[in-house]
Amino acid sequence: MQKRLENWDKSFLWHPFTQMKDWEEESICVIARGQGVYLIDTDGNRYLDGISSMWTNVHGHNHPQLNAALTAQIEKISHSTLLGFSNVPAIKLAKKLVEVTPPGLNRTFFSDNGSTAVEIALKIAHQYWRHCGQENRSKFVHLDQAYHGDTLGAVSVGGIDLFHQTFAPLTFSSISTPTPDACKGHSVEEDGDRCLDLLDQILTRYQGQIAGIIVEPLVQGAGGMIIHPAGFLKGIEQLAQKYDVLLIVDEVMTGLGRTGQMWACQREQVEPDILCSAKGLTAGYLPLAATLTTEKIYTAFLGEYAELKTFFHGHSFTGNQLGAAVALANLELFDSPDFFPQLENKIAHFQQRLQDFHTLDYVGNLRSIGLIGAFELMSDKRKKIEFPFEQKAGIRVCQSALKKGVMLRPLINTIVLMPPLSITISEIDLLIDRVLSAVDQTGRELVAETQLLRHN
Ligand SMILES: Cc1ncc(COP(=O)(O)O)c(C=O)c1O
Repeated sequence: MQKRLENWDKSFLWHPFTQMKDWEEESICVIARGQGVYLIDTDGNRYLDGISSMWTNVHGHNHPQLNAALTAQIEKISHSTLLGFSNVPAIKLAKKLVEVTPPGLNRTFFSDNGSTAVEIALKIAHQYWRHCGQENRSKFVHLDQAYHGDTLGAVSVGGIDLFHQTFAPLTFSSISTPTPDACKGHSVEEDGDRCLDLLDQILTRYQGQIAGIIVEPLVQGAGGMIIHPAGFLKGIEQLAQKYDVLLIVDEVMTGLGRTGQMWACQREQVEPDILCSAKGLTAGYLPLAATLTTEKIYTAFLGEYAELKTFFHGHSFTGNQLGAAVALANLELFDSPDFFPQLENKIAHFQQRLQDFHTLDYVGNLRSIGLIGAFELMSDKRKKIEFPFEQKAGIRVCQSALKKGVMLRPLINTIVLMPPLSITISEIDLLIDRVLSAVDQTGRELVAETQLLRHN
């Protein structure tokens, strides 16, 4: 059965962010089931889900309460449109989201995934300023190395050349501002201050032309898990207020407990004008996203029918009942008084165990925040030299980890550990031990290859 499925996969599927030539030549892992933090393939092999199935899973796979919420909903109805009609779980979820998000966010617009949540945020911000009579405000500022999704609007505010450069002719222009990582100050805090100064200069220069600043709060995910210094997000908020531009926080990756509190922006008491959520919103079960805005933004869209202030945007599956029902059950699990104290313990243990990676010769720039750990694979850690791109170091470490029973997905040479929040202390130990072994073994092989190449 496995062989036949593998053949069909290689004949009929096109995988995301994947060089299909390599894919067709390699053996593949076909997942058939999930249980807790484990994924189980068609041959019955178990893998610890070290990346929460692309940063989506929260409470583990096949969770009884989430399953029950879904089956209860499916017995009633799976989907009906939100265009011109409403539905029970979408209404309840919108209310719940307003309750659990930072103060001021009072309206929920549903869509399907992180990219659409961002598209909606950008379009709302753009149209908001038109309704305010400030039609010149159509530019967006984003951070260098930003990632906000793969649809063209989201790509327009993206900053990762490898992913985004090809599509530049198709996108609208936006303004990039450096991340603290890229500013060459003397300390991380100083980097943050310098970057805020540069942002201040941009906002002065383009005064009256900027609709909003979009930011991944505390940590930039796909850009390589770039962790911002404390106070950086607060500084951005203060500048957004100073220049009266909208602050859009993209919590698609950071939201739902990932950084230790419900939303990353809560760590710095930041109250954005617009917040985007997806991925963990349904605990990783179904594609559903939400873009929340303030009442001030919402009311700017109110007017007579013929005034055309309507937000002309919507997707067929906006407010899907199944997605909303499982998202509600997900948020209820966060309500347990034990949830955050337990998460805090897990984060402490995870971050302490991550320190073991310092012992390896091939690991540099180790960093962590909440239940996210990351490091770069380096051929020379003292000189901070990464393995060459063509050596596919990240992919090879992940292939080795898979053989040891851990599923990972690299960001080029960056290895990311991001297990479901439901992981136990002993499962954290298992995850770290197996990845340590995979990095050590693959690092040796990679270095040996490099030396061989030099000799030839
Ligand atoms: C911060 C952030 N925003 C948006 C997205 C896009 O989400 P999706 O893949 O659901 O479209 C991602 C995906 O990784 C993300 O990390």
